[in-house]
Amino acid sequence: MGLLDRGLEIKSPDQIDLMRRAGLLVGETLELLREATKPGVTTGELDALAEDHIRSHGGVPSFLGYGYPPFPGTICASVNDEVVHGIPGPRELVDGDVISIDCGAIVEGWHGDAAITVEVGDVPDAVRRLMQVTEDALWAGITAARLGGRVTDISHAVESSVRGQGDYGILEEYVGHGIGSAMHMPPNVPNVGRPGRGPRLVRGLALAVEPMVTLGTKETEVLDDDWTVVTADGSRSAHFEHTFTLTRDGPWVLTALDGGRARLEQLGVPFGGR
Ligand code: MF3
Ligand code: CO
Repeated sequence: MGLLDRGLEIKSPDQIDLMRRAGLLVGETLELLREATKPGVTTGELDALAEDHIRSHGGVPSFLGYGYPPFPGTICASVNDEVVHGIPGPRELVDGDVISIDCGAIVEGWHGDAAITVEVGDVPDAVRRLMQVTEDALWAGITAARLGGRVTDISHAVESSVRGQGDYGILEEYVGHGIGSAMHMPPNVPNVGRPGRGPRLVRGLALAVEPMVTLGTKETEVLDDDWTVVTADGSRSAHFEHTFTLTRDGPWVLTALDGGRARLEQLGVPFGGR
């Protein structure tokens, strides 16, 4: 493994294959949780499902014990105006909620990190659109990434994608990140900005792209639990995240079950997976 001048971790093909295993485990765990999400389920029950699934498939939850105070869950479960870093617990989901579920796992020392926002029963059209806008922005970011391009090409594509859909808040205080032998590594991957800035995108780099978008303000507050990030105006929010890398052929979305193939083809971008 080589380290470039900016301290970016460049993974060998074998190491990327291990990251694919971690990514698949995260992707499968999120699908399991999507199926389990319904009115009456608690966020703590979703967390237990995730921990069991990860451990029984040879992984270790990466969020558990992370940071200070140590994060107490395997998933972040963020409901409605909670944008990210919600702590799972006794809260029961009710019809009309949306829940953002963020999950990370380690396999043989390598990390995967991804998030989805899921509707609980019937949610208002504006919220369903918000979810679509946020997920589309994630894919716009991934498909803007080219070998030889720069990190903020992704940022710019995420921002433009959201702005093209209407008047939404895009969080700036929280960003995507490099990932590999640790969950959070350089570089930062902001969700807004001008293109052509930041480190160059090279083979073996892995990034987590994670737009956080609201129906109102981009401003947030952190609750007294020191983790839960809520919108300052109480507006609803959505969060989608994937871990991806660039191969010679194109993007490989390590946390997508199909590696991103279907969505990339839809968007006219060659699939870079193996
Ligand atoms: N998955 C989050 C991210 O994308 C981090 C979760 S914070 C933790 O950066 F404490 F839960 F790990
Ligand atoms: Co992340």
